[in-house]
This record gives sequence, C-alpha cells and structure tokens, in this order.
Amino acid sequence: MRLLVCGGAGFIGSTFVRLRVRDHGDQVTVLDKLTYAGRRENLQEVESEIRFVQGAIEDPLAVADAVAGCDAIVNFAAETHVDRSIADPEGFIVTNMQGTHVLLEAARERGLRYLQVSTDEVYGSIEDGSFTESSPLEPSSPYSATKTGADLLVSSYFHTYALETLICRGSNNYGPHQYPEKLIPLMILNALAGDRLPVYGDGGNVRNWLFVEDFARGIGDTLLRGAPGEVYNCGGPDECDNLTVVRRIIELTGADPGLVEFVTDRPGHDRRYSLSSEKLRALGWRAQVRFDAGLARTVQWYRENEWWWGAIRSGAYREYYERHYGRALKA
Ligand code: NAD
Ligand code: TYD
Repeated sequence: MRLLVCGGAGFIGSTFVRLRVRDHGDQVTVLDKLTYAGRRENLQEVESEIRFVQGAIEDPLAVADAVAGCDAIVNFAAETHVDRSIADPEGFIVTNMQGTHVLLEAARERGLRYLQVSTDEVYGSIEDGSFTESSPLEPSSPYSATKTGADLLVSSYFHTYALETLICRGSNNYGPHQYPEKLIPLMILNALAGDRLPVYGDGGNVRNWLFVEDFARGIGDTLLRGAPGEVYNCGGPDECDNLTVVRRIIELTGADPGLVEFVTDRPGHDRRYSLSSEKLRALGWRAQVRFDAGLARTVQWYRENEWWWGAIRSGAYREYYERHYGRALKA
C-alpha cells in the first residue's frame, strides 16, 4: 500500500511506520509537525525508505503536498497528554478536531480510505466490565472530548459522503520511544535517576495496558480487513492499577520504594478503562505481549537508550515538569 501516515514521528505512529515498511513493504509518507512529542530519531531505522514532510495536519497545503500518490491516510497526529489538555485545551481543538477535518476533506476529494487512530478514553470511565464499540461516548477531559469530536466527524463522512472510513480505538499504550510525560516512561526515568515518583490521588486508577507493537498490528489489521464505517476496539491483555505499575517499575529498576509520593489528584480523573476487543479478534488480531513481559522490555529499552531520552529530560520537558509537578512535590 501507499500510505500517508500523519503523526508518524510520534510514539505509536513511528512504531506503525517501522512495522509497515519492514514487514509489509508499504510505501510510506510521514506528515508530522514535529511538536515536542514528535522526533525524527523515532524513524531513523527506516529513514531512507520513507518520504518525510514536516507540516501540520490542519494546514491544507501541507496535506495536499504530503498526500500526493497515496491510497490511504492513517491519522495518528494529535495532542495526546490529558494533563496538558487540562492546563491548556486550545491546541487540542486545533489539531485533534480541525486537523482531522482537513484530512477528511483530502481523503474525500481523492476517494482515499481513511483510518482514524482513537482511544478508549472516548467512552469515559467504567467501574466493572468492558466497553464495546456500541457503548455510549462520554469523554471526561478536553483531550478525550476532542478525540470524540474527531471520531464523530469521521463517522459523519462515512454516512454523508460514503467515504471509506475506519476507527481503531486503543487502550493505554506503553513501550519504547514513549515521551516521558506519560505514566510508565516518567516513572521509569525518575526511578533510574532516584527522583520522586508522583502518584495521583490514591494510585487506585486502573488502566488496560497495551504494548505498542500490538496496537500497531491492530491498526494494520483494521486498515486492511476492517469494514468501512466500522469502529474496532483494541485493548491490552492485562489491567493494572497505577500503584501496582509503579511498584513493578521499582522492582525492575531497583529503586528505593520510599520515592513514591502521593500528590494531588488530576481533575476529572477517570477511575478505570477497559475495552472488549472481540470485534477486532474476529479479524484475526490477538495481543501478543503480556504486561509483565512488556514492562520488563520497556525498562530495559530505557536503560539502554539514554541517547534517546537524555536530551528530552534536560530540555523543555524540565520546564513542563517543574510547572506541572513542582508545587505538588515541594509541598
Ligand atoms: P505522541 O504524542 O507520541 O505523538 C503525536 C505525534 O503527532 C507527534 O509526532 C507530533 O509531532 C504529531 N503532531 C502533533 N500535532 C500535530 C499536527 N498538528 N500536525 C501534524 N503532526 C502533529 O502520541 P502517541 O501516544 O503516539 O499517540 C498517537 C495517536 O494514538 C493519537 O491520536 C492518540 O490519541 C492515540 N492513542 C494513544 C494512546 C496512548 O496510550 N498513547 C492510546 C490510544 C490511542
Ligand atoms: P497517563 O500516562 O497520563 O495516561 P492517561 O491519562 O491517558 O490514562 O496516565 C496513566 C495513569 O497514571 C492515569 O491514571 C494518571 C496516572 N498518573 C500518575 O499517577 N502520575 C503521573 O505522573 C502521571 C503522568 C499519570
């Protein structure tokens, strides 16, 4: 296939690009704005085999340049961090909603298949059981609200214009190349450095952990075998509460358990996410990496790849970290 992968320099997008180029021989163009979360280094293993366009998905000219010669668009590009969306939602509306609209128009004009990468957070929180694709959409944060808005717009292009759309909703991803604002890489790098480990609230919030390569395969299966207009959930094989995740990271890194610090909870914090992936399993997808094994692999990767995260930890990330955690950790 000839794919336009938007947001392909980020954590999940770059994993998907490596998989499609190496294992499937797809021709890939990446369109990425290279925000703080996007890095050319994430694509270095396939750099000579892809075309890279730096630009924003909300910019129709950049999209027109990038999409030339492609048969499908896969959209990973997004502002993705819930805490940043609480502090300043505007950029989330521009990228996640307006940007999706520009991409849908590009797909409509050219008759291209369109896959939207989405999240379990559009369903909101669930105490027991798991969300299916027909569960109501009840997003809690500005991040998940903009992802929901984008999903609804995607579905409207199927119903109104018969565009071949697909939506794949993943649960919380973890693995190599994840920007260390998210729980798992943040805790790994803090534990390795002997820094404090800021757990929100009582640490009892539960996430359904999905190794990033499993999600990349699930998105590929949805793109190739999904039925137009349909949504497919892609959930991890294991769930775990945050405090247990942090304790496992402490064991794997040999850090001091006394580094754990309970800090003020995130406003509107969803208690639990859980996805049923039966529909995607019917297309032949299975999660291959259990959480314990994936977490050990992830810790090992961060141990061995300081070249990747060293520059992040000393740059603008420091300012973000101070702004977001400074007061809570000093108190
Ligand atoms: P990420 O933050 O690591 O990467 C996002 C990428 O998008 C970066 O390369 C960034 O430069 C690019 N980008 C941001 N704004 C852009 C714009 N306006 N135009 C072009 N490029 C832009 O994110 P991720 O964790 O890899 O998530 C990728 C997608 O998967 C997102 O749509 C996210 O909502 C979804 N998702 C993430 C998770 C998760 O646990 N991380 C789970 C389910 C779904
Ligand atoms: P996060 O990685 O931000 O993903 P999401 O909010 O999209 O699920 O957070 C995962 C869980 O970890 C969530 O319940 C919030 C919690 N958390 C902390 O307790 N401390 C932290 O420093 C961070 C970043 C997250």
